[in-house]
Amino acid sequence: MHTSRPDSVYLMSYTTPRDNYHLGLHFAYSPDGENWMSIGNGRSYLKSDFGSWGSQKRMLTPWVTKGHDGWWHCVWSLGEAMPVFAHSSSPNLTDWYRQSYPDTKGNCQNPVLATEGNKGVLTYTSEGKHYRMTTTDYKTWTSPVEVNVAKSEANTYRTVDLNNHLGQVSGNVQRVAWSVVDHLLKYHDHRVVKDQQNGEQVMIPALEGLKPVEARLTLTSPVKTKAISDELIGVFFEDINYAADGGIYAELVQNRGFEYDPADTKGRYGWSHTTAWSLKNATEGDKFEIATIDPIHENNKHYAALTISKPGVALANEGFDGIVLKKGDKYDLSLWARQLEGKAGKLTVRLVDEKGGVVAEKNLSAPATGKWKKMNAVLIAKSDADKAQLQVIPSMVGKVGLDMVSLFPQKTFKGRKNGLRADLAQILADMKPRFVRFPGGCVSHGDGLHNMYRWVNTVGPLEARKPMRNIWNYHQSMGLGFYEYFQFCEDIGAQPLPVLPAGVPCQNSSVGGHGQQGGIPMEDMDEYVEEILNLIEWANGDPKKSKWAKMRAEAGHPKPFNLKYLGIGNEDLITDVFEVRFKMIFDAVKEIYPEIVVVGTVGPFYEGSDYEEGWDLATRYEVPIVDEHYYNTPGWFMNNQDYYDRYDRSKKTKVYLGEYATHINGRATNLQTALCDALHLTNVERNADVVVMTSYAPLLAKEHHTQWNPDLIYFNNTEVKPTVEYFVQKLFSLNSGTEYLASKLTGRELWNQDIRKRISHSIVRDEKTGDVIVKLVNLLPAEVKMDIDLSALGEQVGIAKRTILTGKDMNDRHARPVDDTIEVNGTRLQQALPAYSLTILRF
Ligand code: AHR
Repeated sequence: MHTSRPDSVYLMSYTTPRDNYHLGLHFAYSPDGENWMSIGNGRSYLKSDFGSWGSQKRMLTPWVTKGHDGWWHCVWSLGEAMPVFAHSSSPNLTDWYRQSYPDTKGNCQNPVLATEGNKGVLTYTSEGKHYRMTTTDYKTWTSPVEVNVAKSEANTYRTVDLNNHLGQVSGNVQRVAWSVVDHLLKYHDHRVVKDQQNGEQVMIPALEGLKPVEARLTLTSPVKTKAISDELIGVFFEDINYAADGGIYAELVQNRGFEYDPADTKGRYGWSHTTAWSLKNATEGDKFEIATIDPIHENNKHYAALTISKPGVALANEGFDGIVLKKGDKYDLSLWARQLEGKAGKLTVRLVDEKGGVVAEKNLSAPATGKWKKMNAVLIAKSDADKAQLQVIPSMVGKVGLDMVSLFPQKTFKGRKNGLRADLAQILADMKPRFVRFPGGCVSHGDGLHNMYRWVNTVGPLEARKPMRNIWNYHQSMGLGFYEYFQFCEDIGAQPLPVLPAGVPCQNSSVGGHGQQGGIPMEDMDEYVEEILNLIEWANGDPKKSKWAKMRAEAGHPKPFNLKYLGIGNEDLITDVFEVRFKMIFDAVKEIYPEIVVVGTVGPFYEGSDYEEGWDLATRYEVPIVDEHYYNTPGWFMNNQDYYDRYDRSKKTKVYLGEYATHINGRATNLQTALCDALHLTNVERNADVVVMTSYAPLLAKEHHTQWNPDLIYFNNTEVKPTVEYFVQKLFSLNSGTEYLASKLTGRELWNQDIRKRISHSIVRDEKTGDVIVKLVNLLPAEVKMDIDLSALGEQVGIAKRTILTGKDMNDRHARPVDDTIEVNGTRLQQALPAYSLTILRF
């Protein structure tokens, strides 16, 4: 309490046109209405969340006022011609809650919000006229009514000069208690400290020349335990970075269904229905066109129509950066053909290497006239090739239709038909992930209503699946659909964790406009809920009783897949539009399939409005698990080791940390980033009573087709390149244990925070094997001499398996774990933790 401070001051809320009105809400204060000081040097206290990044998410003419409910309310215009206004509320001007965008039926400019009795009264301008809307709860508003407003009343903005060099600004001014401004100033200071912490580097000048540090790790009690979820470490598979088509999905033909579309890339790379295809040996009169009359299936509308004037012309596919062939390996070819004009003749299929050499060839019978026919052949490669082409060569003169031209290696993962690339699937299997989240991420909710991932479009015969634009600006054939995904989970002993849209598209949708506000119309929601319930039936139902389960059985899996988890929503804006739809889905699943564990969503960050609103919603509805996401700096991970220790243990809702990764400048992945994540995972293990599942993100990235860095595993057509992070994930997965044992870390030098926050530990026990597992992370530039005291176990430790992951320096991208065994006399041992290392001891 400062007696030298005034009781009250003037507060101005304003924004600026800079950065196309993207900078949000600022504040300034003045003791006398003449001298104005910016608060937090132009800090933004609230940003607009409406629509897509770039041209939308704008805040024009904000107006802040205190409502009859005692909360602050901010309204603003979203642009020069938007028929909605935006509203958000806050108890203190720093924590802002869900935004809403009520209709104004016409262009809304200069909204002004006043409090009259128990009403909020909004006045705005539209095409030179004034309109009024009122509310009693700031959720529902009356329809706009035209009113006469005096000119002076309509524009009560003041323009002032800020004396800390920020120039002239205009906004609404009101008198407030000093404590209001004091809170805004303190909040700014708090954020400055947080920003400094987040910006802290792993290596800092204070640690230069650091001598080895001594510390002791003591197991304090073998009976004070916390159960660790059996599904703590999983993977999140999203079709980003060509992870599916051109990646783990073993199909070698690109654009097999001729369904690529310019819209897939938003017109950026000149894609069309003919992408990856070309005519070879064409003479005049030969034509390659795209036709749509009488397609194989309405979901697969386009096909190639080849006009052949002279036999010899070939329709060639270049694959995804070429087709890789292995000498002696067998390849399953299939295609659909139909004679459109002329007399039918046989088709030759040929694999040709980069020098034009024929690696394999087979003849197919003649297509039928007027009727699509599926044809198959097995091609055996005579030699290796890295950039081969597939050619289809009709022998007749006339016109032939071709579609769904496909080539698969027989050596897929576990030999599955329509299966996965064996090397990529195997490296995932080697991690022994306990669950696989799929299909997204952003791929789940899509970029606008028509881009939502609808599971039902991804099962059944390949030619009947509905391909779609991938939100990451390429194409999803849906060849790797829900059936293949569930089969893969079963093949590697992982739980499936499908994530379906919560009836709303991406909060940043750029297609169809207005982001998430275009949720599935309420009148269509019952049908959508049904679609979600059908997935559970498809996965778990009895084929004799359910048509959905019958579909699964017909696809080759009569036994149920035993689906246990279902994710609803991904990083959605938690608004009224979201809540009503989420609740409908959640209630229906809970009522009909109470055994299914629903995983909700709490936005894209570790704090903020969606995080708070998401948690509030999950707590109110008792959602069993929520999916948290955060991509943070090393500084954040080092300074927030108690992030989950701060969680309320009385809440029923548990955490699935569904997406996380350490991001450094340039978004590289190396020993440093991997160890920051290892540090976090030791803290997660300590909080196993709160966090029940985790998955690093993203998982796979194809070289030269990567939209997002860093990723867990990079690859090209011939190589798989796991990152250091991959080994961290694998080590934690293979050593996750079933119970966390209480322990403490002590040492004189640990009083130094710079040292303390760079060492972390965790001791767990695997009840199945009886093994005790110690994990130690050292992010210091010097060795840590760790004295490990396990005497509380009360028994000799004997032999231990030791794994050390370290590298030549913290930027090492090729560090690999090294295993050996050590003999321990008694229950105490000295273990040197190398600079920048993860050490795992398994006793
Ligand atoms: O992991 C990449 C993307 O990050 C996911 O699609 C999305 O959920 C998050 O924003």
